[in-house]
Amino acid sequence: MMADARQGGVQVVTLAAGKGVRMRSARPKVVHRLAGRTLIERVLRATVPLKPSRMVVVVGYGADEVREAVNAASMARAFGDTEVRFAEQTSQLGTGDAARAALPLLEPAGPVLILPGDSPLLTSERLAAFFEEHRATGAQLSFITCEPPDPTGYGRVVRDNRGSVSGIVEHKDCTAAQRHIREINSSIYLVDYGFLTQALSALRNDNAQKEYYLTDIVAAAVADGATVTAHAAGAAVEILGVNSKAELAVLEAIRRAQIAEHWMREGVTMEDPRAVYIDEDVTIGADSFIGAGTRLRGQTVIGERVVIDGNSLISDSTIATGVHVKLGSVITDARVGSRAVIGPYSHLRPGSELSEEVHVGNFVETKQTTIGRGSKANHLSYLGDAAIGPNTNIGAGTITCNYDGTQKHRTAIGRNVFVGSNSSLVAPVAIGDGAFVAAGSTITDEVPAGALGIARGRQVNIENWVQRRKAAAGKQ
Ligand code: UD1
Ligand code: MG
Repeated sequence: MMADARQGGVQVVTLAAGKGVRMRSARPKVVHRLAGRTLIERVLRATVPLKPSRMVVVVGYGADEVREAVNAASMARAFGDTEVRFAEQTSQLGTGDAARAALPLLEPAGPVLILPGDSPLLTSERLAAFFEEHRATGAQLSFITCEPPDPTGYGRVVRDNRGSVSGIVEHKDCTAAQRHIREINSSIYLVDYGFLTQALSALRNDNAQKEYYLTDIVAAAVADGATVTAHAAGAAVEILGVNSKAELAVLEAIRRAQIAEHWMREGVTMEDPRAVYIDEDVTIGADSFIGAGTRLRGQTVIGERVVIDGNSLISDSTIATGVHVKLGSVITDARVGSRAVIGPYSHLRPGSELSEEVHVGNFVETKQTTIGRGSKANHLSYLGDAAIGPNTNIGAGTITCNYDGTQKHRTAIGRNVFVGSNSSLVAPVAIGDGAFVAAGSTITDEVPAGALGIARGRQVNIENWVQRRKAAAGKQ
């Protein structure tokens, strides 16, 4: 099936120049994300197994932002070896005009696959089946149709009384009767290059939106006596488009459910699969437990037998085997070693690298900090720009004072160190192996290995002070 497509050397044109007015956003619609990937990246990825000979993206509104999104995905090898080229549609005169903008970047022969940039659930299996049917029927033009539960807003497929397609009518141009048509246009077409150029040059904009509609090439093909194939995708969700934030949320929920199901099939236990938010590129090892309210974002890697109690947000981080992330933790750009215990309510910020069996407890924040094997910081600490050796205990309320108002400075803490509660370590400062820091100290100078660093006012007890005070008050 795929081999056919390869021989065909299909060229892919994705339309992504529109603003997406109904999104009510300053950003172009296609750079909005759905489960961690932009809409445009999702559409382009679906075409990769077809081995396109060319990939052209038509940009216009927010062109730089769209280019950036595509190039970032390209750099991450999302589209394999295929280079993506950009065509510019200078003013957004409609989908037909957008397709026209791509023509100069195409080889002047063969089938052209045209896609909207806003159909993020599109699958390569669907495209392959579509391509297959297009070839088998020898059509000059094919397009995908489906029957979603609610066809509102979509172009409707109009058929004659023999059931043959006669054209597509946009929602805004529909008669009351046409609005009852359930079969809609997906905006996914395969068109012979020769016919496409001819049909695009003949488009007119005499419609409700004063736009050049790509949809009109269907009626043109019928009028020409060309073979037109409507590939019916039934009730398939994969061709639905995103035109508003509400639709984005609906399609995102569909994809998230699919992602959760995938990981459950791979042996992950979910407390409530409807209440987990897992991005597309995340991976999770078998026998891990994902509690409700967990958000796993970006390039996060979760090992095997990890327990995430819930209500945590983990982004672009690596969590090794057997880690326990207790309720309500936020972990960003961090690495956590095997069997570590994090939380409840810990905040691991970028550059936090925790070795095996480290314990970081409630209200502890780390940033650009390495913590050696088995070390513990269990309560109420800020550890920033620090290197902490193994088997060290950081007492409750310890703060690395890493910022002098102008610059950041580093704190080095050795192995087997005991830092007493409520200590301030004023960086740059070092605490040697096996040293002790007395509780409540403000440490500004090095504490050598094996030494006790104590830096606080000495306690004075004044005997019978309370009694004398009471007596003095009685005399007045
Ligand atoms: C389009 C179809 C409609 C179909 C629906 C499926 C037309 C006229 N209508 O409607 O029949 O049911 O998709 O989702 O084609 N774009 C440009 N330049 C423009 C206008 C749009 O590049 O001047 C791009 C947009 O960025 C978007 C795609 O084309 O990615 C589709 O445009 P959109 O406005 O979403 O069309 P729909 O109203 O959804
Ligand atoms: Mg649309």
